[in-house]
Amino acid sequence: MTNRSSLSAILLFLFFSASSAEHNVRTERISGSAGDVLEDDPVGRLKVYVYELPSKYNKKLLQKDPRCLTHMFAAEIFMHRFLLSSPVRTRNPEEADWFYTPIYPTCDLTPTGLPLPFKSPRMMRSAIQLISSNWPYWNRTEGADHFFVVPHDFGACFHYQEEKAIERGILPLLQRATLVQTFGQRNHVCLDDGSITIPPFAPPQKMQAHLIPPDIPRSIFVYFRGLFYDVNNDPEGGYYARGARAAVWENFKNNPLFDISTDHPTTYYEDMQRSIFCLCPLGWAPWSPRLVEAVVFGCIPVIIADDIVLPFADAIPWEEIGVFVGEKDVPELDTILTSIPTQVILRKQRLLANPSMKRAMLFPQPAQPGDAFHQILNGLARKLPHDRSIYLKAGEKVLNWTAGPVGDLKPW
Ligand SMILES: *[C@@H]1O[C@H](CO)[C@@H](O)[C@H](O)[C@H]1NC(C)=O
Ligand SMILES: *[C@@H]1O[C@H](CO)[C@@H](O)[C@H](O)[C@H]1NC(C)=O
Repeated sequence: MTNRSSLSAILLFLFFSASSAEHNVRTERISGSAGDVLEDDPVGRLKVYVYELPSKYNKKLLQKDPRCLTHMFAAEIFMHRFLLSSPVRTRNPEEADWFYTPIYPTCDLTPTGLPLPFKSPRMMRSAIQLISSNWPYWNRTEGADHFFVVPHDFGACFHYQEEKAIERGILPLLQRATLVQTFGQRNHVCLDDGSITIPPFAPPQKMQAHLIPPDIPRSIFVYFRGLFYDVNNDPEGGYYARGARAAVWENFKNNPLFDISTDHPTTYYEDMQRSIFCLCPLGWAPWSPRLVEAVVFGCIPVIIADDIVLPFADAIPWEEIGVFVGEKDVPELDTILTSIPTQVILRKQRLLANPSMKRAMLFPQPAQPGDAFHQILNGLARKLPHDRSIYLKAGEKVLNWTAGPVGDLKPW
Protein backbone atom coordinates (compact mmCIF):
# COMPACT_ATOMS: atom_id res chain seq x y z
CA MET A 1 0.00 0.00 0.00
CA THR A 2 2.72 2.47 1.02
CA ASN A 3 4.54 1.55 -2.11
CA ARG A 4 1.50 2.30 -4.27
CA SER A 5 0.79 5.68 -2.72
CA SER A 6 4.38 6.81 -3.10
CA LEU A 7 4.18 5.74 -6.76
CA SER A 8 1.06 7.82 -7.19
CA ALA A 9 2.90 10.82 -5.79
CA ILE A 10 5.69 10.35 -8.32
CA LEU A 11 3.15 10.03 -11.04
CA LEU A 12 1.31 13.21 -10.10
CA PHE A 13 4.57 15.09 -10.11
CA LEU A 14 5.42 13.71 -13.53
CA PHE A 15 2.10 14.75 -15.06
CA PHE A 16 2.72 18.30 -14.06
CA SER A 17 6.32 18.46 -15.14
CA ALA A 18 5.84 16.56 -18.35
CA SER A 19 2.93 18.59 -19.58
CA SER A 20 4.56 21.88 -18.70
CA ALA A 21 7.68 20.84 -20.61
CA GLU A 22 5.57 20.34 -23.68
CA HIS A 23 3.93 23.70 -23.16
CA ASN A 24 7.30 25.32 -23.50
CA VAL A 25 7.64 23.72 -26.94
CA ARG A 26 11.35 23.90 -26.36
CA THR A 27 12.66 21.14 -28.52
CA GLU A 28 16.15 20.01 -27.89
CA ARG A 29 18.68 19.74 -30.64
CA ILE A 30 19.75 16.17 -31.00
CA SER A 31 23.41 16.16 -30.24
CA GLY A 32 26.18 13.72 -31.02
CA SER A 33 25.88 11.37 -33.94
CA ALA A 34 22.34 12.38 -34.73
CA GLY A 35 21.14 15.91 -35.24
CA ASP A 36 23.14 16.96 -38.23
CA VAL A 37 23.01 13.57 -39.85
CA LEU A 38 19.19 13.43 -39.79
CA GLU A 39 19.02 16.77 -41.57
CA ASP A 40 21.44 15.73 -44.32
CA ASP A 41 20.25 16.24 -47.86
CA PRO A 42 21.15 13.18 -49.92
CA VAL A 43 20.72 15.01 -53.23
CA GLY A 44 24.12 15.36 -54.89
CA ARG A 45 25.70 12.71 -52.67
CA LEU A 46 24.61 9.62 -54.58
CA LYS A 47 23.09 8.54 -57.88
CA VAL A 48 20.70 5.62 -58.09
CA TYR A 49 19.83 3.67 -61.22
CA VAL A 50 16.36 2.08 -61.17
CA TYR A 51 16.18 -1.07 -63.29
CA GLU A 52 13.15 -1.40 -65.49
CA LEU A 53 11.44 -4.71 -64.78
CA PRO A 54 8.30 -6.32 -66.20
CA SER A 55 5.31 -5.30 -64.09
CA LYS A 56 4.83 -8.87 -62.82
CA TYR A 57 7.60 -8.10 -60.30
CA ASN A 58 5.88 -5.04 -58.92
CA LYS A 59 2.79 -3.23 -60.25
CA LYS A 60 0.81 -6.32 -61.25
CA LEU A 61 1.20 -7.73 -57.74
CA LEU A 62 -0.16 -4.54 -56.28
CA GLN A 63 -3.05 -4.43 -58.76
CA LYS A 64 -3.99 -7.91 -57.67
CA ASP A 65 -4.04 -6.91 -54.02
CA PRO A 66 -4.13 -3.19 -53.12
CA ARG A 67 -3.97 -4.11 -49.42
CA CYS A 68 -0.20 -4.31 -49.98
CA LEU A 69 -0.18 -0.50 -49.76
CA THR A 70 -1.28 -0.43 -46.13
CA HIS A 71 0.48 -3.28 -44.37
CA MET A 72 3.61 -2.66 -42.31
CA PHE A 73 5.89 -3.84 -45.11
CA ALA A 74 4.57 -1.30 -47.62
CA ALA A 75 7.93 0.51 -47.68
CA GLU A 76 8.94 -1.84 -50.50
CA ILE A 77 6.28 -0.20 -52.69
CA PHE A 78 6.63 3.39 -51.53
CA MET A 79 10.41 3.32 -51.89
CA HIS A 80 9.98 2.35 -55.56
CA ARG A 81 7.54 5.23 -56.18
CA PHE A 82 9.78 7.62 -54.32
CA LEU A 83 12.89 6.70 -56.31
CA LEU A 84 11.15 7.02 -59.67
CA SER A 85 10.73 10.76 -59.17
CA SER A 86 13.67 11.43 -56.85
CA PRO A 87 16.43 13.81 -57.97
CA VAL A 88 18.98 11.15 -56.95
CA ARG A 89 17.71 8.93 -59.75
CA THR A 90 19.94 8.74 -62.80
CA ARG A 91 18.90 7.39 -66.18
CA ASN A 92 22.54 6.69 -67.00
CA PRO A 93 23.65 3.47 -65.30
CA GLU A 94 27.27 4.25 -66.13
CA GLU A 95 27.29 7.05 -63.56
CA ALA A 96 25.24 5.22 -60.89
CA ASP A 97 26.62 4.58 -57.40
CA TRP A 98 23.77 2.25 -56.53
CA PHE A 99 21.44 -0.02 -58.49
CA TYR A 100 17.89 -0.62 -57.34
CA THR A 101 15.69 -3.53 -58.44
CA PRO A 102 12.01 -2.60 -57.99
CA ILE A 103 10.40 -5.77 -56.74
CA TYR A 104 7.61 -6.26 -54.16
CA PRO A 105 8.55 -9.58 -52.56
CA THR A 106 6.06 -9.22 -49.69
CA CYS A 107 2.98 -8.37 -51.74
CA ASP A 108 1.39 -11.79 -51.39
CA LEU A 109 -1.33 -11.75 -48.75
CA THR A 110 -3.51 -14.37 -47.13
CA PRO A 111 -7.28 -13.71 -47.16
CA THR A 112 -6.89 -12.16 -43.69
CA GLY A 113 -4.12 -9.87 -44.93
CA LEU A 114 -0.97 -11.52 -43.57
CA PRO A 115 1.96 -11.01 -45.94
CA LEU A 116 3.63 -14.27 -46.88
CA PRO A 117 7.26 -14.48 -47.97
CA PHE A 118 7.18 -17.95 -49.51
CA LYS A 119 7.35 -16.87 -53.14
CA SER A 120 9.93 -14.16 -52.46
CA PRO A 121 13.09 -16.27 -52.98
CA ARG A 122 11.95 -17.45 -56.43
CA MET A 123 10.82 -13.98 -57.38
CA MET A 124 14.15 -12.49 -56.28
CA ARG A 125 16.12 -15.12 -58.10
CA SER A 126 14.14 -14.57 -61.26
CA ALA A 127 14.60 -10.78 -61.10
CA ILE A 128 18.34 -11.12 -60.51
CA GLN A 129 18.64 -13.55 -63.40
CA LEU A 130 16.91 -10.96 -65.56
CA ILE A 131 19.03 -7.95 -64.56
CA SER A 132 22.25 -9.93 -64.74
CA SER A 133 21.58 -11.04 -68.29
CA ASN A 134 20.16 -7.75 -69.63
CA TRP A 135 22.65 -5.34 -68.05
CA PRO A 136 26.39 -5.71 -67.33
CA TYR A 137 26.28 -4.18 -63.83
CA TRP A 138 25.28 -7.13 -61.69
CA ASN A 139 28.06 -9.38 -62.94
CA ARG A 140 30.64 -6.64 -62.30
CA THR A 141 30.14 -6.90 -58.52
CA GLU A 142 27.60 -9.73 -58.13
CA GLY A 143 25.34 -7.28 -56.42
CA ALA A 144 27.73 -5.46 -54.10
CA ASP A 145 26.60 -2.05 -55.45
CA HIS A 146 22.95 -3.09 -55.57
CA PHE A 147 20.39 -2.59 -52.82
CA PHE A 148 17.12 -4.40 -52.19
CA VAL A 149 14.20 -3.45 -49.97
CA VAL A 150 13.26 -6.58 -48.01
CA PRO A 151 11.03 -5.46 -45.14
CA HIS A 152 9.53 -8.82 -44.15
CA ASP A 153 9.85 -10.12 -40.54
CA PHE A 154 13.29 -11.65 -40.92
CA GLY A 155 14.37 -9.71 -43.99
CA ALA A 156 15.94 -11.73 -46.79
CA CYS A 157 15.75 -14.95 -44.77
CA PHE A 158 12.16 -14.97 -46.07
CA HIS A 159 10.34 -16.83 -43.32
CA TYR A 160 8.24 -15.55 -40.44
CA GLN A 161 9.27 -18.25 -37.99
CA GLU A 162 12.63 -17.44 -36.54
CA GLU A 163 13.92 -21.01 -36.46
CA LYS A 164 13.08 -21.54 -40.14
CA ALA A 165 14.45 -18.11 -41.03
CA ILE A 166 17.76 -18.94 -39.36
CA GLU A 167 17.86 -22.33 -41.06
CA ARG A 168 17.35 -20.68 -44.46
CA GLY A 169 19.72 -17.78 -43.88
CA ILE A 170 19.92 -14.81 -46.22
CA LEU A 171 19.05 -15.78 -49.80
CA PRO A 172 22.45 -16.74 -51.30
CA LEU A 173 22.06 -14.43 -54.29
CA LEU A 174 21.61 -11.44 -52.00
CA GLN A 175 24.68 -12.07 -49.89
CA ARG A 176 26.76 -9.31 -51.45
CA ALA A 177 23.95 -6.78 -51.80
CA THR A 178 22.96 -4.07 -49.33
CA LEU A 179 19.68 -5.02 -47.70
CA VAL A 180 17.23 -2.39 -46.55
CA GLN A 181 15.12 -4.16 -43.93
CA THR A 182 13.02 -3.73 -40.81
CA PHE A 183 14.60 -6.72 -39.10
CA GLY A 184 17.49 -5.75 -36.89
CA GLN A 185 19.14 -7.90 -34.22
CA ARG A 186 22.83 -8.08 -33.45
CA ASN A 187 24.67 -11.34 -34.21
CA HIS A 188 21.77 -12.81 -36.15
CA VAL A 189 22.15 -14.66 -39.45
CA CYS A 190 19.31 -12.60 -40.95
CA LEU A 191 21.15 -9.30 -40.44
CA ASP A 192 24.20 -8.71 -42.57
CA ASP A 193 26.82 -6.15 -41.61
CA GLY A 194 26.19 -3.09 -43.71
CA SER A 195 22.42 -3.54 -43.93
CA ILE A 196 20.22 -0.51 -43.37
CA THR A 197 17.57 -1.00 -40.70
CA ILE A 198 14.40 0.98 -41.36
CA PRO A 199 11.17 1.61 -39.45
CA PRO A 200 8.14 -0.50 -40.37
CA PHE A 201 5.52 1.33 -42.42
CA ALA A 202 2.86 3.09 -40.35
CA PRO A 203 0.11 5.15 -42.05
CA PRO A 204 1.17 8.81 -41.78
CA GLN A 205 -2.20 10.41 -42.67
CA LYS A 206 -4.07 8.25 -40.22
CA MET A 207 -1.63 9.11 -37.45
CA GLN A 208 -1.83 12.80 -38.31
CA ALA A 209 -5.62 12.65 -38.12
CA HIS A 210 -5.45 11.46 -34.50
CA LEU A 211 -3.15 14.15 -33.14
CA ILE A 212 -4.46 15.78 -29.96
CA PRO A 213 -3.49 19.21 -28.62
CA PRO A 214 0.02 19.02 -27.14
CA ASP A 215 -1.06 20.58 -23.83
CA ILE A 216 -3.20 17.59 -22.87
CA PRO A 217 -1.41 16.06 -19.88
CA ARG A 218 0.14 12.63 -20.05
CA SER A 219 -1.97 10.97 -17.39
CA ILE A 220 -1.06 7.36 -18.18
CA PHE A 221 2.26 6.17 -16.78
CA VAL A 222 2.81 3.00 -18.84
CA TYR A 223 0.74 2.06 -21.89
CA PHE A 224 0.56 -1.08 -23.99
CA ARG A 225 -1.98 -2.68 -26.27
CA GLY A 226 -1.31 -5.99 -27.96
CA LEU A 227 -0.87 -9.69 -27.45
CA PHE A 228 0.77 -11.13 -24.35
CA TYR A 229 0.47 -14.73 -25.53
CA ASP A 230 0.06 -16.16 -29.02
CA VAL A 231 -1.94 -19.26 -28.14
CA ASN A 232 -2.50 -20.27 -31.76
CA ASN A 233 1.14 -20.38 -32.74
CA ASP A 234 2.73 -20.95 -29.34
CA PRO A 235 0.27 -23.01 -27.31
CA GLU A 236 2.78 -24.00 -24.63
CA GLY A 237 4.01 -20.44 -24.17
CA GLY A 238 7.58 -19.22 -23.82
CA TYR A 239 8.50 -18.92 -27.51
CA TYR A 240 6.32 -15.96 -28.37
CA ALA A 241 8.22 -12.79 -27.47
CA ARG A 242 10.64 -15.16 -25.69
CA GLY A 243 8.19 -14.92 -22.78
CA ALA A 244 8.73 -11.18 -22.27
CA ARG A 245 5.16 -10.14 -23.05
CA ALA A 246 3.77 -12.89 -20.84
CA ALA A 247 6.00 -11.57 -18.04
CA VAL A 248 4.63 -8.04 -18.52
CA TRP A 249 1.09 -9.33 -18.13
CA GLU A 250 1.75 -11.67 -15.24
CA ASN A 251 3.66 -9.08 -13.22
CA PHE A 252 1.69 -5.93 -13.92
CA LYS A 253 -1.88 -6.76 -14.90
CA ASN A 254 -3.11 -5.41 -11.56
CA ASN A 255 -0.64 -2.57 -11.19
CA PRO A 256 -2.46 0.79 -11.43
CA LEU A 257 0.53 2.42 -13.11
CA PHE A 258 0.23 0.00 -16.02
CA ASP A 259 -2.52 0.55 -18.57
CA ILE A 260 -2.06 -2.70 -20.45
CA SER A 261 -4.53 -4.90 -22.27
CA THR A 262 -5.15 -6.95 -25.40
CA ASP A 263 -8.09 -4.73 -26.44
CA HIS A 264 -7.27 -2.36 -29.24
CA PRO A 265 -9.36 0.74 -28.51
CA THR A 266 -10.36 3.30 -31.15
CA THR A 267 -8.50 5.86 -29.00
CA TYR A 268 -5.22 3.92 -29.31
CA TYR A 269 -3.26 6.77 -30.94
CA GLU A 270 -4.76 9.35 -28.57
CA ASP A 271 -3.91 7.17 -25.58
CA MET A 272 -0.27 7.04 -26.61
CA GLN A 273 -0.23 10.84 -26.63
CA ARG A 274 -1.59 10.73 -23.08
CA SER A 275 1.13 8.36 -21.90
CA ILE A 276 4.60 8.86 -20.51
CA PHE A 277 6.01 5.44 -21.35
CA CYS A 278 4.94 3.13 -24.19
CA LEU A 279 6.07 -0.46 -24.03
CA CYS A 280 7.70 -1.77 -27.22
CA PRO A 281 8.36 -5.42 -26.44
CA LEU A 282 9.44 -7.90 -29.08
CA GLY A 283 6.79 -10.16 -30.61
CA TRP A 284 7.80 -12.90 -33.02
CA ALA A 285 10.40 -10.48 -34.37
CA PRO A 286 12.19 -7.85 -32.23
CA TRP A 287 10.54 -4.85 -33.86
CA SER A 288 6.95 -3.64 -34.16
CA PRO A 289 5.09 -0.53 -35.40
CA ARG A 290 4.79 0.58 -31.75
CA LEU A 291 8.26 2.04 -31.97
CA VAL A 292 7.20 4.36 -34.79
CA GLU A 293 3.95 5.22 -33.01
CA ALA A 294 5.73 5.98 -29.74
CA VAL A 295 8.17 8.37 -31.41
CA VAL A 296 5.51 10.11 -33.48
CA PHE A 297 3.27 10.53 -30.43
CA GLY A 298 6.06 11.63 -28.10
CA CYS A 299 5.67 8.67 -25.75
CA ILE A 300 9.01 7.41 -24.44
CA PRO A 301 9.56 3.98 -26.01
CA VAL A 302 10.44 1.29 -23.49
CA ILE A 303 12.32 -1.17 -25.65
CA ILE A 304 12.23 -4.76 -24.44
CA ALA A 305 14.08 -6.73 -27.14
CA ASP A 306 17.61 -7.86 -26.34
CA ASP A 307 20.16 -7.04 -29.05
CA ILE A 308 17.68 -5.16 -31.21
CA VAL A 309 19.20 -2.97 -33.92
CA LEU A 310 16.92 0.05 -34.17
CA PRO A 311 16.04 1.97 -37.34
CA PHE A 312 18.77 4.29 -38.62
CA ALA A 313 20.75 3.54 -35.48
CA ASP A 314 23.79 5.35 -36.86
CA ALA A 315 21.76 8.57 -37.08
CA ILE A 316 19.29 8.45 -34.18
CA PRO A 317 20.46 8.46 -30.53
CA TRP A 318 18.05 5.77 -29.35
CA GLU A 319 19.82 5.40 -26.01
CA GLU A 320 19.00 9.01 -25.19
CA ILE A 321 15.42 8.90 -26.39
CA GLY A 322 14.22 5.53 -25.20
CA VAL A 323 14.53 3.27 -22.18
CA PHE A 324 16.08 -0.16 -22.71
CA VAL A 325 14.97 -2.98 -20.42
CA GLY A 326 16.51 -6.45 -20.66
CA GLU A 327 14.02 -9.23 -21.36
CA LYS A 328 14.98 -10.93 -18.09
CA ASP A 329 14.40 -7.67 -16.17
CA VAL A 330 10.71 -7.35 -17.08
CA PRO A 331 9.60 -8.30 -13.52
CA GLU A 332 11.44 -5.15 -12.32
CA LEU A 333 9.82 -2.89 -14.91
CA ASP A 334 7.83 -0.88 -12.35
CA THR A 335 10.92 -0.13 -10.25
CA ILE A 336 13.03 0.60 -13.31
CA LEU A 337 10.57 3.12 -14.71
CA THR A 338 9.61 4.82 -11.44
CA SER A 339 13.25 5.34 -10.52
CA ILE A 340 14.09 7.29 -13.67
CA PRO A 341 14.71 10.88 -12.50
CA THR A 342 12.16 13.41 -13.70
CA GLN A 343 14.90 15.46 -15.35
CA VAL A 344 15.82 12.46 -17.47
CA ILE A 345 12.21 11.92 -18.48
CA LEU A 346 11.81 15.57 -19.43
CA ARG A 347 14.95 15.47 -21.51
CA LYS A 348 13.79 12.37 -23.39
CA GLN A 349 10.44 14.07 -24.03
CA ARG A 350 12.17 17.16 -25.39
CA LEU A 351 14.29 15.04 -27.71
CA LEU A 352 11.17 13.20 -28.88
CA ALA A 353 9.46 16.52 -29.55
CA ASN A 354 12.12 17.25 -32.16
CA PRO A 355 10.31 17.05 -35.52
CA SER A 356 13.36 15.56 -37.24
CA MET A 357 12.92 12.41 -35.13
CA LYS A 358 9.29 11.97 -36.13
CA ARG A 359 9.97 12.67 -39.79
CA ALA A 360 12.67 10.02 -39.91
CA MET A 361 10.16 7.36 -38.79
CA LEU A 362 7.59 7.95 -41.54
CA PHE A 363 7.15 7.29 -45.26
CA PRO A 364 4.78 10.16 -46.15
CA GLN A 365 3.06 10.73 -49.52
CA PRO A 366 4.43 12.90 -50.98
CA ALA A 367 7.89 12.51 -49.49
CA GLN A 368 9.30 15.28 -47.28
CA PRO A 369 12.89 16.29 -46.57
CA GLY A 370 14.29 14.26 -43.68
CA ASP A 371 11.67 11.48 -43.88
CA ALA A 372 12.46 7.76 -43.86
CA PHE A 373 13.04 7.73 -47.65
CA HIS A 374 15.71 10.39 -47.23
CA GLN A 375 17.26 8.56 -44.28
CA ILE A 376 17.58 5.42 -46.43
CA LEU A 377 19.37 7.49 -49.09
CA ASN A 378 21.57 9.07 -46.42
CA GLY A 379 22.48 5.58 -45.24
CA LEU A 380 23.37 4.53 -48.78
CA ALA A 381 25.39 7.74 -49.31
CA ARG A 382 27.37 7.10 -46.10
CA LYS A 383 28.50 3.78 -47.59
CA LEU A 384 30.17 5.54 -50.53
CA PRO A 385 32.61 5.44 -52.16
CA HIS A 386 32.50 1.71 -52.75
CA ASP A 387 35.67 -0.13 -51.92
CA ARG A 388 37.50 -1.13 -55.10
CA SER A 389 37.53 -4.73 -53.89
CA ILE A 390 33.82 -5.13 -54.70
CA TYR A 391 34.63 -5.21 -58.44
CA LEU A 392 35.28 -8.76 -59.59
CA LYS A 393 37.87 -9.74 -62.17
CA ALA A 394 36.58 -10.59 -65.63
CA GLY A 395 34.84 -13.96 -65.44
CA GLU A 396 35.23 -14.20 -61.64
CA LYS A 397 32.22 -15.67 -59.79
CA VAL A 398 31.62 -15.68 -56.06
CA LEU A 399 27.93 -16.43 -55.58
CA ASN A 400 26.53 -19.92 -55.97
CA TRP A 401 23.38 -19.76 -58.09
CA THR A 402 22.21 -23.20 -57.13
CA ALA A 403 22.70 -22.94 -53.37
CA GLY A 404 19.69 -22.95 -51.04
CA PRO A 405 16.54 -25.09 -50.70
CA VAL A 406 15.59 -26.81 -53.98
CA GLY A 407 12.11 -25.28 -53.77
CA ASP A 408 13.71 -21.87 -54.28
CA LEU A 409 15.24 -22.95 -57.57
CA LYS A 410 11.93 -23.44 -59.35
CA PRO A 411 11.27 -20.77 -61.94
CA TRP A 412 8.93 -17.98 -60.95
C1 LIG B 1 26.42 -12.48 -66.37
O1 LIG B 1 26.80 -13.77 -65.96
C2 LIG B 1 25.85 -14.78 -66.27
C3 LIG B 1 26.29 -16.08 -65.63
O2 LIG B 1 27.63 -16.33 -65.85
C4 LIG B 1 25.70 -14.88 -67.77
O3 LIG B 1 24.75 -15.87 -68.11
C5 LIG B 1 25.27 -13.54 -68.32
O4 LIG B 1 25.19 -13.55 -69.72
C6 LIG B 1 26.21 -12.43 -67.86
N1 LIG B 1 25.63 -11.17 -68.23
C7 LIG B 1 26.13 -10.35 -69.13
C8 LIG B 1 25.40 -9.10 -69.40
O5 LIG B 1 27.16 -10.62 -69.74
C1 LIG C 1 26.50 -24.66 -54.92
O1 LIG C 1 25.50 -25.11 -54.03
C2 LIG C 1 25.04 -26.43 -54.30
C3 LIG C 1 23.87 -26.71 -53.38
O2 LIG C 1 24.22 -26.50 -52.04
C4 LIG C 1 26.20 -27.41 -54.15
O3 LIG C 1 25.76 -28.71 -54.44
C5 LIG C 1 27.33 -27.01 -55.10
O4 LIG C 1 28.43 -27.84 -54.89
C6 LIG C 1 27.73 -25.57 -54.88
N1 LIG C 1 28.65 -25.16 -55.91
C7 LIG C 1 29.83 -24.62 -55.65
C8 LIG C 1 30.64 -24.25 -56.83
O5 LIG C 1 30.23 -24.45 -54.51
